[in-house]
Amino acid sequence: MSDQPQLFKVTIDNITIEVAPGTSILEAARKIGGDVAPPAMCFYSKLKGSGGKCRTCLVEVSKGSEKDPRPMPKLVASCRTTVMDGMEVKNITSERVVDARAGVVEFLLLNHPLDCPVCDQAGECHLQDLSYDHGKAGTRYEFQRRTFKKHDLGEYIQLHMTRCILCYRCVFTAEQLTDKRSHGVLDRGDHAEIATYIEKSLDNDFIGNVIDVCPVGALTDKTFRFKNRVWFLKPVDAHCSCSKCSGKVTLWYRGDEVFRVTARKDQWGEVEDWICNECRFEKKKTSDWTIEGPRVIDRASVISQGHYVGVQKPKETFEAVLDGRKPRLFMDIHSVSGVNRPDINLSLIEGPAHSDDFDRVTKKD
Ligand code: SF4
Ligand code: SF4
Ligand code: FES
Repeated sequence: MSDQPQLFKVTIDNITIEVAPGTSILEAARKIGGDVAPPAMCFYSKLKGSGGKCRTCLVEVSKGSEKDPRPMPKLVASCRTTVMDGMEVKNITSERVVDARAGVVEFLLLNHPLDCPVCDQAGECHLQDLSYDHGKAGTRYEFQRRTFKKHDLGEYIQLHMTRCILCYRCVFTAEQLTDKRSHGVLDRGDHAEIATYIEKSLDNDFIGNVIDVCPVGALTDKTFRFKNRVWFLKPVDAHCSCSKCSGKVTLWYRGDEVFRVTARKDQWGEVEDWICNECRFEKKKTSDWTIEGPRVIDRASVISQGHYVGVQKPKETFEAVLDGRKPRLFMDIHSVSGVNRPDINLSLIEGPAHSDDFDRVTKKD
């Protein structure tokens, strides 16, 4: 008998490939790549047990297998369903899938704030991409959205629970990478939230990785918050010899200043090598690193649209443009996240808004 393991043939959106038994439909689709790969907001190939939470990866199995060709009656989560030999799957070629995904996006956005203009994740946010690809312009939700206070989770990380989609990735990261997990999902259903037990800070050596795995702007790097838009930065691969981690990182430059340090991510937005807190938060000088060269951002991202020449900081024109006037064009809405509050009548605000304006136009009962 041949030593070669038997491979299963699976056809996804009319493209047939062979994969090892035990491969999930999502991983098989990623081997084909492009639009055939379903979006995944909670599955993370490097985190054991991840997936099965968000339902964005739903697909239609139109033929179960060669032995049992019956279609599966319901759409299935592709990250949690393994392939069978002869299976046929429809992703973007299925109207049911496209319709269901639009519904999932609508649910994910039910309580989500309109924070994109001030959110650090904008430009590299998987929920933004998902909403553009599958979302609808309006919402049918008429109730007040959930709001939360911002929480400081230790020295380096801030939690904006209003933006969290409860994907559990950060919980798995803390569980599998650090010595002691001190946060998790508290409560259930509409009350579920990411929280630390009695506001305990997260100060483990590898805890900074929760920022990278978070698909939205719920967990942010306090050393980078509000400092720059990500598409103005130039990503550069660099390494150092670190005794705790691989030391392989991406530095994000503006001019010759390192604004943030992140792990390197692959084309699916997943971390290639976990990095320690020291590399991420404390090595912010070029002299701390050996530069390898520009980072290619694989995902269809606004960051890839920047065509940088050299690493010189562009001349600041802000003061000259304002010519002594106050910067009224800035919207200070991040402290409120309140543009979603149903008691605010936005149409009463003329021109650019400041958070104080919201109190002025609050509807009175
Ligand atoms: S996480 Fe931030 S960037 Fe992403 S959709 Fe929400 S507000 Fe916008
Ligand atoms: S904070 Fe981020 S990573 Fe954690 S559950 Fe919420 S969305 Fe997921
Ligand atoms: S990626 Fe499959 S359920 Fe979230």
